[in-house]
Amino acid sequence: MACCHKLLAVTVLFAALFQATEVEGGVRFSTLERNLVVNAQIQSQNVSSGVAKVGVDSLAVQWNLNSSLEIEVDSEYASVKVKLCFAPKSQIDRGWRKTDDDLQRDNTCPKEIATKLYRSEGNFVVWRIPKNVPGGEYFVRAYVLDTQAVELAYGQNTDDAKTTNLITIIPITGRLPSIDIAGIVLSLFSVVSLCSFLLAETLLDEKIRFQNDLLNHIGVIGPRALAFAFTN
Ligand SMILES: *[C@@H]1O[C@H](CO)[C@@H](O)[C@H](O)[C@H]1NC(C)=O
Ligand SMILES: *[C@@H]1O[C@H](CO)[C@@H](O)[C@H](O)[C@H]1NC(C)=O
Repeated sequence: MACCHKLLAVTVLFAALFQATEVEGGVRFSTLERNLVVNAQIQSQNVSSGVAKVGVDSLAVQWNLNSSLEIEVDSEYASVKVKLCFAPKSQIDRGWRKTDDDLQRDNTCPKEIATKLYRSEGNFVVWRIPKNVPGGEYFVRAYVLDTQAVELAYGQNTDDAKTTNLITIIPITGRLPSIDIAGIVLSLFSVVSLCSFLLAETLLDEKIRFQNDLLNHIGVIGPRALAFAFTN
């Protein structure tokens, strides 16, 4: 009987734990107010291109509280996390970039641009686009966080459907950066090491065989010859 009670207790405990993790999740994006106004512009060497090149160009992002809101709305605002997000076009056929209303499961905005303390008068950041950002269509979103880093509100530089003001980022052209060269050198190095190892082993085998032969002939050759063989 005691065992059954224990089993029951354990089952209940597990069920409770499971439910807790199920329910917990993150903040739902659909519950956030769009209280920030966000602008993002490409700062490019080539002004006429209208696209941003990784490693060279930057994004200038600026945000502030929507001035038509009542004053107290930002009393809990502590910081602003600015992120680079995939536009729907660049999510097609890529499950790992999928949008989820639960922000803990959302993969729309994988790249953090900056986190800054919240200031009601707004703030900005200029961010050089790193080389590891994949080419595609993007927008910029800023989350307002409280002191516990829980999302309270947001703003983005595009409409709700994420189709306007998109930023086109183009990747490094021509793959031959240092990473590839390093890879080739490493492969060559491992092939050479393997060959040397095999060669060394073969030579060692030969040597052992030679010594065995020598020992077999000790009786015939005599101690003087043996001394000669080992000193040479
Ligand atoms: C600037 O961009 C335009 C349009 O993409 C292109 O035709 C031109 O070659 C670029 N100039 C430089 C210096 O990269
Ligand atoms: C600011 O908020 C008002 C009221 O909610 C809204 O109508 C307006 O579009 C917002 N402005 C911007 C730039 O988001």
